[in-house]
Amino acid sequence: MTVRVALPFLLAAALALPVVARAEGSAVAGKKKAVVCFACHGANGNSTDPQYPRLAGQYPGYIVQALKEYKDGQRKNPIMHGFASQLTEQDREDIAAYFHSLPPVLYNLKGDIQGSGKGL
Ligand code: HEC
Repeated sequence: MTVRVALPFLLAAALALPVVARAEGSAVAGKKKAVVCFACHGANGNSTDPQYPRLAGQYPGYIVQALKEYKDGQRKNPIMHGFASQLTEQDREDIAAYFHSLPPVLYNLKGDIQGSGKGL
């Protein structure tokens, strides 16, 4: 009796969980929303200017969290505060999905290696 009553509840809870856990980001929608970010972070998410972090391949959760923190001032940067403040939760998820989908270009040690690694 108890099992028969509890089962539908457990099923309903299990099915509802993913929806409650997190909004799903769309990389296609994110590509359009991220146009404003390209000037600094690069259209392929791999900025060549070291003052702008590379976002390509980054975990979506990291990007979403960073954008939230710039928006609420937990992470302080006047430039990013301005851009992050314009974004809704869905925008953050979509943009994060887009940058995550891009292939990352690894940093190299050009100019920083002494000795045997020279020329890398
Ligand atoms: C005018 C240049 C500029 C634009 C445009 C810009 N950013 Fe940034 N972004 C920066 C700078 C500078 C930093 C590093 C700030 C810091 O030191 O925290 C940064 C940092 C970030 C970080 C943190 C990266 C990390 O590795 O911790 C994320 C995520 C980010 N930007 C996303 C975006 C998104 C999404 C957009 C578009 C909505 C955007 N940025 C537009 C300049 C820019």
